[in-house]
Amino acid sequence: MSSMRAQVGIVGAGPAGLLLAHLLRRDGIESVVLENRSRRYVVERVRAGLLEQGTVDLMTDLGLAARLHRKGLVHEGLSLRFSGRSHRIPLTELTGKVVTIYGQNEVMKDLIAARLAAGDDILFEAEAVGLEGIDTTKPSIRFRQGDEEKVLACDFIAGCDGFHGMCRPAIPAGALTFYDREYPFAWVGILSESPPISHELIYVHHARGFALFTMRSPQLSRLYLQCTPDDDIKNWPDARIWEELQLRLGDEGGRLAEGKVTQKAVTPMRSFVAAPMRHGRLFLAGDAAHIVPPTGAKGLNLAAADVRVLARALVEYYRHGREDLLDRYSDICLRRVWKGQRFSWWMTSMLHRFDDQPEFDRQVQLAELDYVTGSRAAMTSLAENYVGLPFEDI
Ligand code: APR
Ligand code: PHB
Repeated sequence: MSSMRAQVGIVGAGPAGLLLAHLLRRDGIESVVLENRSRRYVVERVRAGLLEQGTVDLMTDLGLAARLHRKGLVHEGLSLRFSGRSHRIPLTELTGKVVTIYGQNEVMKDLIAARLAAGDDILFEAEAVGLEGIDTTKPSIRFRQGDEEKVLACDFIAGCDGFHGMCRPAIPAGALTFYDREYPFAWVGILSESPPISHELIYVHHARGFALFTMRSPQLSRLYLQCTPDDDIKNWPDARIWEELQLRLGDEGGRLAEGKVTQKAVTPMRSFVAAPMRHGRLFLAGDAAHIVPPTGAKGLNLAAADVRVLARALVEYYRHGREDLLDRYSDICLRRVWKGQRFSWWMTSMLHRFDDQPEFDRQVQLAELDYVTGSRAAMTSLAENYVGLPFEDI
């Protein structure tokens, strides 16, 4: 069996794994990234698309943001629409910060191209199948590439392999606590070759269910509709999607332009945290440790915040032999993760239709929306969470 070595073995070439690899490289720490999918699959997978200012700053500091600054759409506000009226939240006026619309697959393209240009590899179609010795100082990853099984020996393993990965389950039963919440709905999401209805995002609370009008470019709309949790995409022919979008949008700014639908899928909604985010020499980051419903657009941003802390802790270890930051990794990340969880849960609860919702609860939802769009204090609270809470000094 052939074997390789790296200081840090990274499982998963999603945003968490690749950002970590770049952060480590900047400080002279070498890593090997294993990814079980193909490069093409990874860059074509359509996912969220909203970057907090801190995530953009991180990519800028790493020299990875040239295309992001050229193509990203900078947003200074968003709208909440309920009871047939839209209310703008002026994010930048309230916080001094902006958010940027830039598809996660574009982020992936940039992260992959920059790593390969720097002469570092990403092992695509290399599936991690087993972790050994995570309780020791010599952990290793068994992985399969083609017909061959190989071993990557390392000092540390970063489990960046997403919610369905193998790193979290490699931690002995009982060592982790799981916190989980499922929601009684999901989203149907489409990409449409048509200009967005507005240059800012519109989050809609409607008796027929939630809708979100977002975008990828001035010619490409990204649209979401609340559907049932086990809904089949076959139940959503294009005509039904356009009709529902139109109904839930109402008479906002004229009629929604309908374009060619180039992508269509059901996104599940779930809140999940595994704690602690570390076991021995295995560190979980991003979706491997936590997922949020997409309403607050926090998934990618939380992943970026985790690896920022992890990279800093590993640099301190290699430079100065310090282990205290590694020991605090999980606590530092979880403070931000739980605030992201709270915000995502709150946005989700405020904006969706709950089927057996008593009328009292629906009135409270509307009062909350009225308050959030009417009180500067409440608006500021939404805005500072939405643009991203400041990073903790570590
Ligand atoms: N071996 C190698 N790679 C694996 C394995 C395995 N056994 N299992 C999963 N992977 C890969 C997946 O193919 C995927 O490319 O790990 C990667 C995990 O990437 P993401 O799921 O994107 O997770 P993460 O990097 O934490 O990014 C979080 O992505 O899913 C969105 O909403 C989420 O925006 C958030 C962000
Ligand atoms: C997106 O553009 O895909 C997007 C934006 C904001 C969200 C969720 C998704 O809250």
